[in-house]
Order: sequence, then C-alpha cells, then structure tokens
Amino acid sequence: MDANPITPQKILVTGGAGFIGSHTVVALAEAGYEPVIVDDFSNSEPSILDGLKAILNREVRSYHIDCNDRAAMTDVFSQEQVAGIIHFAASKAVGESVEKPLKYYRNNLDTLMLLLELMPQFGVQNLVFSSSCTVYGQPEHLPVTEETPRLPAMSPYGNTKAICEDIIRDCVAANMPVRAISLRYFNPIGAHPSALIGELPRGVPANLVPYLLQVASGQRASLTVHGNDYNTPDGTAIRDYIHVMDLADAHVSAVRLLVEKKETAFYDVFNIGTGRGASVLELINTFEEVNGIKLPYHLGDRRPGDIEQIYADVTKSTRGLGFTTKRTLADALQDAWRWQQKIS
Ligand SMILES: NC(=O)c1ccc[n+]([C@@H]2O[C@H](COP(=O)([O-])OP(=O)(O)OC[C@H]3O[C@@H](n4cnc5c(N)ncnc54)[C@H](O)[C@@H]3O)[C@@H](O)[C@H]2O)c1
Repeated sequence: MDANPITPQKILVTGGAGFIGSHTVVALAEAGYEPVIVDDFSNSEPSILDGLKAILNREVRSYHIDCNDRAAMTDVFSQEQVAGIIHFAASKAVGESVEKPLKYYRNNLDTLMLLLELMPQFGVQNLVFSSSCTVYGQPEHLPVTEETPRLPAMSPYGNTKAICEDIIRDCVAANMPVRAISLRYFNPIGAHPSALIGELPRGVPANLVPYLLQVASGQRASLTVHGNDYNTPDGTAIRDYIHVMDLADAHVSAVRLLVEKKETAFYDVFNIGTGRGASVLELINTFEEVNGIKLPYHLGDRRPGDIEQIYADVTKSTRGLGFTTKRTLADALQDAWRWQQKIS
C-alpha cells in the first residue's frame, strides 16, 4: 500500500449532471481530481449519475440542490473544502430566454454571484466559467480570436454569458482573491464513447445534432437545413463542432492552470473549439457516411437569429492551456449516434 496516499483535490461541478458537466466529471476523475456534483436536475436526469458510476466504477459525490439556495450551497462549501469550481449550472435555451428573460437573468447571474460571494468565505480561489462563442455574434473576421470584439447579444441567454464574464472580470479587477477562467465554447456535440452518458434534450431540440439524431432514430420525420444561400462554399451555415470529451478535457487543463497559479487574483478568457468550421451539409454527409444511415432532410429558409458562420482561432488555448482537440467530427457523430440508439 502507498504509505503517503495523495488526497485528490476536490472540484465542485455545478450542473455536473448536464451534458457538458457530466463528461467533464469523467475527465476530472480520470485526471486524478475528485469531482463533486451540485445539480437541481432542472435540465437533466438523475440516471446520468448511474452512467457516471458505470464509467468510473464508483459513485460520484452529488448534491441535489439549487445553486441559488444560499443555505444549501453554504453547507456544501463547508462540507467539501474544494480546490476549485467549474460553474456549468445555467439555463441555456436561447428561444426560451427570449420569452422568459427574467428566468435567465435570475438563474444565470445569481448562481454566479452567489459562488463569488461564497468563494472568499471558504478560501476557494479557482473558478472556471462556461461561456460561449455566442458573445462574438457574427464576427467581421474569421477565425475569431479572444481579441475579437464582443457584439451586443442577440438573446437574453447570450447577454447573461457576456454579463457573467464582466462580473468575474470586475471581481478580479477589485482584487478579490479569485483566479478565474472563462471558456468560450464553440459547438459541443457527441457523447462518451461508452454511450453511458450523453445529451438529453428536452422538447424539440433547437440544435442541429440533437435534432438530426432524433430524425435518424425515426422520432422525427425530416431535418430542415435552415438556409442554403449563405455566403459559404455550399451555402449552408458553418460552425466549429467540438467533441464533448475534448471540451471536457479543456476544463481539466483550465483547472490545472488555475490551481498551479501563484497570483491571488487572475482572469483570462479562452476559445475552446477545433479551429475548423464545418457546414451543415458537411455534417449531414459525415453522419451518413460514418453511421451508414440515409438522413431524410430538406432545404428550408434561414432561421431568424442564426449567424452565417463562426469558427475559433485556438492559438491562445493551445499555448496558454496546452489544449488541443483529439477527436474528429466523425468520432463525435459516431459517439452521438451510439448514445442516441441507447436512449431511443
Ligand atoms: N451546450 C452548448 O451548446 C453550450 C454552448 C456554450 C455554452 N454552454 C454553457 O455550458 C453550460 C453547460 O451546458 P450544457 O449543454 O451541459 O447544459 P445542460 O442543461 O445539459 O446542463 C446544465 C445543468 O445545470 C443544471 N442547473 C441549471 N440551473 C441550475 C441551478 N440553479 N442549480 C443547480 N443546477 C442547475 C441543469 O439541471 C443541468 O443539469 C451552460 O452554462 C451553458 O450555457 C453550452
């Protein structure tokens, strides 16, 4: 037996039962951290915890609470003594945010502010925040770097991401003892290759891949390709799709960077994408090819609010986080389909 076992550092993962959170829990555990989940299951299922247990061969500590509940969160902080926090918990449906803006401002801003209030009280310094490439809107120049100016948000959801980034920046500028990183995710897709965890969309999926998967499994009749007259090589919109396990690994890199930092106050922002754009038609073709499935789809009008194209410049995250993606679009679409077959 090891005479000096090293106690793994605990990382609080808010929203850890969700799509990106659950995959990050796996990546953290495999990197030697001890993830502790806080989730109210408002947009996830407790069955994901069983999937995590099956992948990791052990139970992951989890709390079924709302991150806005000050008393319950205070209890978690006093019981767990975490080395850092990854804050995923948020409401994320763009369309719903237009109809119910206050739900989004309340949930997304308050959860972050409560964490920032509790962190110094409990000596927790490190915070990774889930931001989004939505803060760039439709940029003038591609690929987008972290220096690309943010544009006015096109939805209350997008606005919460920009405001949350600003809240963290201002707290660090005020010399609060907080070291933080905002990760601006591009388009996460895929699932864990075991098909034991994956995305569980509620209602009609607004994103391309979850919708496509439901068409492939026969739950929906046909996929609409929204717009084929964009100024792109095949006329369809371009996004930077990243495998969710690669995105999960980026969080481990960010946590590592923060826990090793000597500064008491630190803030930085990183793009997390592949650096490569894929069009809707390219994605459909790749899905058909790797999974041997013919997808019924038709061309439709552009969708209001959709941008034409975006993909990341990943120079800064490669240098600053030592992060590079390892999985391809084909890998992501195979893993996503394996998961979809399991849940259909
Ligand atoms: N999925 C994407 O395309 C994408 C892109 C950019 C940024 N993000 C951000 O990444 C984060 C995670 O996204 P996701 O796709 O995994 O979403 P998700 O909905 O699958 O996960 C969020 C989790 O947080 C939980 N949650 C929400 N409010 C809570 C609260 N008040 N208390 C406790 N738990 C709460 C939900 O139950 C869910 O399990 C979010 O902040 C989202 O805005 C997602």
